[in-house]
Amino acid sequence: MGQLENKIAVVTGSGSGFGEGIAKLYAEEGARVIVADINLEAANRVAADIGSAARAFKVDVSNRNDINHVVNHCKDEFGRVDIVVNNAGITHKNQPMLDVDEAMFERIFNINVKSIYYMAHAVVPLMRDQGGGVIVNIGSTAGIRPRPGLTWYNASKGAINLLSKSMAVELAPDKIRVNVICPVMGVTGMFELAMGLPDTPENRARFISSIPSGRFCQPSDIAAAALFLASDAAEFITGVELPVDGGRTI
Ligand SMILES: NC(=O)c1ccc[n+]([C@@H]2O[C@H](COP(=O)([O-])OP(=O)(O)OC[C@H]3O[C@@H](n4cnc5c(N)ncnc54)[C@H](O)[C@@H]3O)[C@@H](O)[C@H]2O)c1
Repeated sequence: MGQLENKIAVVTGSGSGFGEGIAKLYAEEGARVIVADINLEAANRVAADIGSAARAFKVDVSNRNDINHVVNHCKDEFGRVDIVVNNAGITHKNQPMLDVDEAMFERIFNINVKSIYYMAHAVVPLMRDQGGGVIVNIGSTAGIRPRPGLTWYNASKGAINLLSKSMAVELAPDKIRVNVICPVMGVTGMFELAMGLPDTPENRARFISSIPSGRFCQPSDIAAAALFLASDAAEFITGVELPVDGGRTI
């Protein structure tokens, strides 16, 4: 018996990286998973890997209609959404803060932060009606111990870390748990942009030296944390800002 048997889970940005790891582990643990990504080809690939427990959707999380569409689909087909993982996110290139233009600033905040506002509007009423639910947000160590060159990205992640705790206190009476996972750097789609340097062994070593455990974060690290937080074993855990970071934020 899996830890998420018969649960309905929506994982945004699950066409690659951490989200892909989360979607696959959730399915292994018995959940039906909506693989929601702006890149439909990537979402289709992940859903095909998973098999019949997954369905791919093209969703731009900065578009309210897209979010409503995917949640309405779950409502119509399953009558519920048990778990939402707000994972989709982007960064600007690691560079001096004044070099990031306004359009990029707005993209970052629309995709990383406003998407959670849209998702909350779509799922919280449903979760209230069904008697509870779980929301897992993917923040970052960037919102706890910021690195230079990523100021506006760091700010968006700080917002996610904080809004998660605020949602948790407000929604606890409705049995809706909200937690935030804070990964340290991982070798995913956004790796080179976040480093702001070419992906060479020397540049990797510079960043690894800032992580006490001596390695980057892997999708399996984040998936394991996201599984625990979504499972009934974490029934009494809400509002936790959980670094999965090999000690980076100490
Ligand atoms: N990789 C890291 O170093 C790191 C560290 C801390 C936190 N994070 C966070 O982890 C999350 C996942 O990122 P990742 O590292 O797996 O990177 P990634 O680039 O591999 O994955 C991000 C996924 O989100 C999708 N996406 C982008 N914009 C979208 C949109 N508007 N709507 C829907 N989907 C969209 C992409 O297509 C991609 O599949 C992000 O929120 C990121 O900020 C990453």
